[in-house]
Amino acid sequence: MTDYPEFMLSTTRPLPDEGVISCASPSNIALVKYWGKRPIQLPQNTSISFTLDTCKTVTNLTFVKRDTAADNFDFELIFEGQPKPDFKPKIQDFFERIAPYLPFLQQYTFTIETHNTFPHSSGIASSASGMSALAFCLMHLEKKINPAISDPELIKKASFLARLGSGSACRSLEGPVTVWGKHEAIPGSNDAFAIKFPENLHQNFEHYQDTILLIDKGEKQVSSTVGHDLMHDHPFASKRFEQASKNTKKLKNILRSGDVDAFIEVVESEALTLHAMMMTSLPYFILMKPNTLSVLQKIWEYRKNTDSKICFTLDAGANVHLLYPEVEKVQVSEFINNELVAYCQNGQYICDKIGFGVKLL
Ligand code: DP6
Repeated sequence: MTDYPEFMLSTTRPLPDEGVISCASPSNIALVKYWGKRPIQLPQNTSISFTLDTCKTVTNLTFVKRDTAADNFDFELIFEGQPKPDFKPKIQDFFERIAPYLPFLQQYTFTIETHNTFPHSSGIASSASGMSALAFCLMHLEKKINPAISDPELIKKASFLARLGSGSACRSLEGPVTVWGKHEAIPGSNDAFAIKFPENLHQNFEHYQDTILLIDKGEKQVSSTVGHDLMHDHPFASKRFEQASKNTKKLKNILRSGDVDAFIEVVESEALTLHAMMMTSLPYFILMKPNTLSVLQKIWEYRKNTDSKICFTLDAGANVHLLYPEVEKVQVSEFINNELVAYCQNGQYICDKIGFGVKLL
């Protein structure tokens, strides 16, 4: 774990006694999907995502210096006002992974209070927003110890740390578009942390909308760790990683040129490929529900009958993300209410759009 010496904290300044740091960090939705990883939490292919705006985790990190040094981690977790012991092992693992880079961790008692702005058990993964929020709060504690750290360095290390909590979390710190994983067509791209998309985003994608149709709000059928593991020994893995690399390059050009039709093709193909990978692994899974398929058919039908540029993407579950330009907001809202809401569990959906990353509160 002494990799990445640039992220080691070398200063030996006095530690602050106590304080509170608060931030809000968004979720993100991948356009080119991260699916398959190698230790520790390094991606098998480059991924590109839109950072979201409304779906966020708000975290308050309270830190109090411990009287005596110890070699364990001392933390409490409060989720939506209630102690949440079942989240603790994940945070414990996270602290173990990041401790070499934040040597002050064992010297504090932490209280991590957190809540999400999206409904609990909506099927929306909170690991990206949650881990990025915690990593960012911890980096602000590091900044109290090492005030010389610049904002870009702080964000970069927060992304590096967040990645060790949950891969996709590293893409939530900045926006509106981020890239994670080394790719020769994207200067500065890196396996260890995400970067802001280094090109100008065409105005066609500015203010892009993401309406999330909650098709099935149940517990995830397959955890992402299990899901990523399915790519080991997967018969199509190497072709998939090649395809992701090609799609990354295509999407880079699309985001620059504003070619929305080409965007639709790459994004929908990526979503279906992700699900195809799960259907063709051992064990195999179908994570879409009948209503997911009905929605996809409706989107294709709507696109055929109108000049709409709406498209869909999926994460590793049944919910559907509808991506569309802001100018279509009124028409799409009608389309959702007239034709799609019937497929949503309890008629629920969340209106989001692309956003700009984590914020200190
Ligand atoms: C399908 O980041 O949740 O959403 O690294 O094991 O925490 P871990 O996995 P996670 O995987 C996300 C997978 C995905 C695609 C994506 O976001 O790129």
